[in-house]
Amino acid sequence: MAIQRTFSIIKPDATERNLTGAVNAVIEKAGLRIVAQKRIHMTRQQAETFYAVHKERPFFGELVDFMISAPVVVQVLEGENAIAKYRDVMGATNPANAAEGTIRKLFAKSVGENSVHGSDAPETAAIEIAQFFAGNEIVG
Ligand code: CMP
Repeated sequence: MAIQRTFSIIKPDATERNLTGAVNAVIEKAGLRIVAQKRIHMTRQQAETFYAVHKERPFFGELVDFMISAPVVVQVLEGENAIAKYRDVMGATNPANAAEGTIRKLFAKSVGENSVHGSDAPETAAIEIAQFFAGNEIVG
């Protein structure tokens, strides 16, 4: 399996509880490398662009409000099969359904405040990475 990159967000519910390092420890223990990382406070425009695919969903407004409610940590993760691997490491979107040992089982509060985001496919990973990082900010 080829080396891939995926995009990750440590969300406001996790940064507010000072869990950035704890989340990163799970990521690194799974064999993924954090090859870019920065803490930002997303603008409403950035969050609406990022989640545009969900704009017709009933939870869109709540989702955007949450993502701009406190700082987030945006990341690029690299490793073998990184996109699927990170989705496994995150666990199910709803923490009630997440497997033991996953980030969402360990830390998430609810389906909305679910601690982390990870790309779902190579095409979306490339788009999401490019929204937040210039090429020279990613150091593999
Ligand atoms: P994420 O992987 O960031 O992608 C879309 C997000 O929408 C998802 O994680 C959840 O945090 C959020 N989401 C999905 N379903 C719901 C829901 N029913 N209510 C609130 N937020 C949701």
